[in-house]
Amino acid sequence: MVKNEFYTLYNGVTIPKIGFGTWQVAEGEEAYNSVTYALKVGYRHIDTAHAYGNEASVGRAIADSGIDRKDIFVTTKLPSHIKDYQGTIQHFNQSLTSLGLEYIDLYLIHAPWPWSDIGTDCTQGNIQAWKAMIELYNAGKIRSIGVSNFHPADMQVLIDATGVVPMVNQIRYFIGNTQPAIVDYCNQHNILIQAYSPLATGEIVNNEQLQPLAQKYGVTVAKICLRYCLQKGTLPLPKSTNEGRIAQNLELDFTIDQADMTFLDNIGRIGKIKPYRS
Ligand SMILES: NC(=O)c1ccc[n+]([C@@H]2O[C@H](COP(=O)([O-])OP(=O)(O)OC[C@H]3O[C@@H](n4cnc5c(N)ncnc54)[C@H](OP(=O)(O)O)[C@@H]3O)[C@@H](O)[C@H]2O)c1
Repeated sequence: MVKNEFYTLYNGVTIPKIGFGTWQVAEGEEAYNSVTYALKVGYRHIDTAHAYGNEASVGRAIADSGIDRKDIFVTTKLPSHIKDYQGTIQHFNQSLTSLGLEYIDLYLIHAPWPWSDIGTDCTQGNIQAWKAMIELYNAGKIRSIGVSNFHPADMQVLIDATGVVPMVNQIRYFIGNTQPAIVDYCNQHNILIQAYSPLATGEIVNNEQLQPLAQKYGVTVAKICLRYCLQKGTLPLPKSTNEGRIAQNLELDFTIDQADMTFLDNIGRIGKIKPYRS
C-alpha cells in the first residue's frame, strides 16, 4: 500500500512516498485537527514551514498522536527572506522549538529569493544558508537537507560552493506542469522531487479533460493527479482540511497504464501559470 511505501534519499534516509501538506491550514484548531486526522488515517509525513505559521499546532498534533517520533517524517522550511548563516541557525532553532521536536527530518530553503522579491540574485545568501544547514545536518539536528523552488543554476552554486548536493527539491508539480528542466537536473543528481500543489491548489480537481480517465479507473480526478505524481517518481504533498478528502488522498493503490500516462504527459498546461507560490 502506498501509505506504507518509501523513497530512499541519496544519504540513505527513507521518506514516506506521500506527505500531508499544511499550507493555508490555520494555526490552532484547524491545523491540529487536520494533522491529527491525517496521522490517524495513516500519513506518516507532514510538510510544514515557518512561513505557514502553524508549526506549533502541527507539533502538538504529532506529540498527541502517540505515534513514535521516529515513525513520523517532519519537514519544515527556512523562511525565504533569511539569507545568512546566523539567521538560518536562529530560524532553525525557532522551528524546532515551535514544533516541540528535537530534530527535523527534512529542512528546506523555502525559495532561492524572498517571496517579496522574486527573481533577485541571492546566490551568496543561499550559500551561507546552505553552509549553516550542512552544519546542523552534521550535528545530527536535521536528517536530510534540501531546497524548494530552486532551478538548476540555483542548485549548482550550492554544490560548487560546498560539495553537498541537496537531497530534495520541492517544486510546484502537477499534471500539465511538470517542469522538465528541473526534473532532469534533479534526476541526474539523485535529488528527490517533492511535488507541491499536486492538485494545483484545487484548480484541477474538476478538470473536464481528466474526468474520463477518472471514470475509467473508478477514482476521483484528485486521485489521478496524485497517482500520476507517484508514477513519475515524485513525492506528492496533497493538502486538505476535510476528513473525507484527507483519507481519500492516501488511497492510491491502483495503476495508471502506460498509454494513459503518455496522454497525461502530453496534455499541455491545464492550471494557471503560477510557477512560484509560498
Ligand atoms: N515549497 C513551497 O513553496 C510550497 C508551495 C505551495 C505548497 N507547498 C506544500 O504543498 C502542499 C500542497 O499544495 P497546496 O496547498 O497548494 O494544494 P493542493 O494539495 O494542490 O490542493 C489543495 C486544494 O485541493 C482541495 N482538495 C484536496 N484534496 C481534494 C480531493 N481529494 N478532491 C477535491 N479537492 C481536494 C483542498 O480543499 P480542502 O482542504 O477543502 O479539501 C484545497 O483547496 C502545501 O500544503 C504545502 O505543504 C509548498
